[in-house]
Amino acid sequence: MSEQLKQVTHVENIRYDKAKEELIIIDQTLLPNEERFITLTTAEEMYDAIKLLRVRGAPAIGICAAYSLYSLARTIQEETPEGFLNELKKQAAYLNSSRPTAVNLSWALGEMVKTAETHLDLPRADLLEALYRKAVDIHEDDIAKCRAISEYGLTLVKDGDGILTHCNAGPLATSRYGTALGPILLGTEKGMKFRVFSDETRPLLQGARLTSYELHRAGVDVTLICDNMASIVMKNGWVQACFVGCDRVAANGDAANKIGTSGVAILAKHYGIPFYVLGPTSTIDMNCPDGDHIPIEKRDPDEIKTMWYEKPMALPGIKCYNPAFDVTDHTLIAGIITEKGICRAPYTESLTALFDNKA
Ligand code: MRU
Repeated sequence: MSEQLKQVTHVENIRYDKAKEELIIIDQTLLPNEERFITLTTAEEMYDAIKLLRVRGAPAIGICAAYSLYSLARTIQEETPEGFLNELKKQAAYLNSSRPTAVNLSWALGEMVKTAETHLDLPRADLLEALYRKAVDIHEDDIAKCRAISEYGLTLVKDGDGILTHCNAGPLATSRYGTALGPILLGTEKGMKFRVFSDETRPLLQGARLTSYELHRAGVDVTLICDNMASIVMKNGWVQACFVGCDRVAANGDAANKIGTSGVAILAKHYGIPFYVLGPTSTIDMNCPDGDHIPIEKRDPDEIKTMWYEKPMALPGIKCYNPAFDVTDHTLIAGIITEKGICRAPYTESLTALFDNKA
């Protein structure tokens, strides 16, 4: 393997310009055809950016929400510390209501509110500085976590392997390397070669629009397939491992991720292929006992019927069921890869150990 590292291009998906006090994101809904950066100024623009998937992917949503809350805190007029905190909590609750499944959103907002509580007695400028520093920490921490996840993930595959992924858990969904795409990008930097199969990921096509775009830009051999083709590529012997991200992992290891993920896991089990879930510990919700307690977002039927088509693909009266996520049962998961290491079954024990600093 060449030690001459090939630097993979990373798009800066979220950036806070401190000099201008501006929050800038790449609008992921326009990719891959247009790389447009937009500035989020109002609470409504921030809420919409998350709701409409301009910014998406569990860790990225959390990072964006942290900067958003700092930016909104700057505009709070209440003079008393209690008044400031109440207003901040209201804004946090509003942002948190944009999407229910990814726990990183409420986690990051909770961290910001806790920071405000701890620094509430400081002069307003210092309190705001503490909030800014916290948002930067959440962001920088994610970069470090993605790197560590990538290193651990890379130990699970070898040069020349075929890897199947679903949705997008790359740099756009996180920061820098990403989670599920992290080992692939890191391995590529080290001169390894993988053959990646990217599920297109109906109905919002994150695999087609984002994963194949990111991997292709990074020089990875990526093949786009429709979701219903995963079985044949597995049967052909072209897949040695499945790598997916996660939006919320319950204490027993059940993992919510983009709709269709659990089907991939079931197929992988049938073909004897290890199925790995990769995510930072901020995606693990130890207060959630199992997958039945994970809230699943339901989205607009038009994402199925009309969104990508010149003409509607179903009659207006046709009912649609459009859950944005499903839960993969922990029994189907060969390992949960975090920045602290690789957790194996029984997950109730290995995940608990992560938070006891024993892992
Ligand atoms: O609806 P999305 O595009 O936000 O769903 C994203 C996913 O399901 C990702 O796989 C998950 O957030 C992990 S991102 C590292």
